[in-house]
Amino acid sequence: MYEKIFAKYEPTKDNLIYILHDIQDEHPQHYLSEDAVQRVSEYLNVPVNHIYGVITFYTMYSTKPRGNNIIRLCESPPCYLKGSDNIYKKLKTVLGVKAGETTADGLFTLEFCACLGVCGNAPVMMINDDVYGNLTEESVVTIIEKIRGGK
Ligand code: FES
Repeated sequence: MYEKIFAKYEPTKDNLIYILHDIQDEHPQHYLSEDAVQRVSEYLNVPVNHIYGVITFYTMYSTKPRGNNIIRLCESPPCYLKGSDNIYKKLKTVLGVKAGETTADGLFTLEFCACLGVCGNAPVMMINDDVYGNLTEESVVTIIEKIRGGK
């Protein structure tokens, strides 16, 4: 996997976030392992500590294995004012996990994120690359059940 991704990018520091993004996307558990960080460090000749600094700065990166479907619930003020805390409570109930955790079946990881840029549809969440807006406690259940049914 690493060689295929490295082949797409020149070994310059400017490409760090793109390489990390691709590796995380390709990993079946959607995270950046210690091995991945080490390999990127060697390829770009960038210290491991610098890479971990980047990983912890951006919420989109994870150093923990995650589920097949990553739910990112927006917690910025416009979504909060439209009831994202109720959506979060419903997600916790339906999934049986809280933010930062993965369901026992490995199907979902629940996370918070900052504004997704579609505040007009607040409250909003993303599941993998799909955006879901105007969420209600009912629609959240339907969305999760639909994904569960299609596993
Ligand atoms: S504040 Fe939630 S999408 Fe902008």
